[in-house]
Amino acid sequence: MKKIILAAVSVAALALIGPAGAQSPIVIKFSHVVAPETPKGKGAEKFKELAEKYTNGKVKVEVYPNSQLYKDKEEVEALQLGAVQMLAPSLAKFGPLGVKEFEVFDLPYIMPDKAALKRITNGPVGKSLLDKLDVKGIKGLAYWDNGFKIMSANKPLHTPADFQGLKMRIQSSKVLESEMRALGAIPQVLAFSEVYQALQTGVVDGTENPPSNMYTQKMHEVQKHATLSNHGYLGYAVIVNKKFWDDLPADVRSQLEKAMNEATVYANDIAQKENDDALEAMKKAGKTTFYTLTPAELAEWKKALAPVTEEMSSRVGKDLIEAFQKEANLKTN
Ligand code: LMR
Repeated sequence: MKKIILAAVSVAALALIGPAGAQSPIVIKFSHVVAPETPKGKGAEKFKELAEKYTNGKVKVEVYPNSQLYKDKEEVEALQLGAVQMLAPSLAKFGPLGVKEFEVFDLPYIMPDKAALKRITNGPVGKSLLDKLDVKGIKGLAYWDNGFKIMSANKPLHTPADFQGLKMRIQSSKVLESEMRALGAIPQVLAFSEVYQALQTGVVDGTENPPSNMYTQKMHEVQKHATLSNHGYLGYAVIVNKKFWDDLPADVRSQLEKAMNEATVYANDIAQKENDDALEAMKKAGKTTFYTLTPAELAEWKKALAPVTEEMSSRVGKDLIEAFQKEANLKTN
């Protein structure tokens, strides 16, 4: 916290420097917790490239990957205080900020595929969720994809019974807490940057993440088994400090909007392939055995996880869940 306040104070002091300071570029610090070679990491780099190009150097984007500046919870505080300007936290991480509706994305098996998700995020429901961030001093700019999650541990995870008593690392979401409990596991919230070590030292037994995150954090080196359960989704909201954004000169803001729109198309286009490639690379590395559920096992997982939606409906909102279910039931071509 002290680090964040000091950084915010020095940002404010720099703003007072005057005419000489006015010549220097506007700096956007974009902080995130994953590796540069992930869908989010590459999306951030693409935004930097386009933002600097479209603003003709008036804006400089500094990307800080791998929790170099801040961990999960700290980065949101840093954004609100103005110590960094841009982030892309996973949708599971908005609960602690008080916008628990975002946890609807964490509900097990709520979305059959990314096409259904896109209909939500590109439509009025997606927009109204981003608008809820305004009162927190945050402007939501876009949704970026990662992928569907797989479960890993040092033992095979074929049926819910295999989870009994396992300590499973989760992101800070009550829905994910409920999900792990429904499987008989003990959920443990940990910052993303702490997961590898926690798995290695046995502080936790397992976790869930899309293959791209698992591979780039080398989690496959410390997890003997993984199940391709695709039981839940992990994606991001790209957010900025609202005051910073609103105070930008209008022409600069619209150039940045253009850069963000194009970076979003890029990030969403590459996400699936990044995950497919990461899975292939982990299979090749040979340290983890990957398991595909039989239809009967999948039915058991769905049955065990079904109560989570009911249990969480008052938290995330019944209407929101229904809107998701409606899109999920539409035929995807
Ligand atoms: C996690 O904490 O597991 C993910 O949210 C990390 C990320 O940003 O993809």
